[in-house]
Amino acid sequence: MLADKYADRIQKTFSKYPDKRSAVMPLLYVAQEEYGWVSPQAIIEVAELCEMDPTQVKSIAGFYTMYRETPKGRFWLHVCTDLPCAIRGADQFYQDLLAHLEIGDGDTTDDGLITAEHVMCLAACDKAPMLQCNFHYHENLDMDKMKALVEQWRAEAQAQQINGNK
Ligand code: FES
Repeated sequence: MLADKYADRIQKTFSKYPDKRSAVMPLLYVAQEEYGWVSPQAIIEVAELCEMDPTQVKSIAGFYTMYRETPKGRFWLHVCTDLPCAIRGADQFYQDLLAHLEIGDGDTTDDGLITAEHVMCLAACDKAPMLQCNFHYHENLDMDKMKALVEQWRAEAQAQQINGNK
């Protein structure tokens, strides 16, 4: 339960706002961190914490693209293929990335680690090809850099798994 596991963080978040409802978005992030997505359980817990109706919380989560409404890979990639980036090769880069990951647009790799989706402008048009991974920017990419990042993420996940099993 979020209320137990993140009690301090939730109280700190509430202290920044005039009422509990105003903390709904930061608490949706907490829920997403815990569950990997904004699951029905997460919606209910956040609604209880913020003293809101779950329908209201769900509509907020559904409005903003930074909340995951379905399970995604641990590394959630948003690749900009909007026109300015496409002119700098983002379309081909994205196709090459999907081929490297052996997935289609919006899909998750078989190991469950990486989800890739194309998105509209992320305000880094002069640094394409670029992407966000869990909201961190990676810019001026090419496939060599991208393959290195994928390797790095897989190594991180493996290390976390090994440490978690100790
Ligand atoms: Fe891709 Fe702006 S068009 S970041």
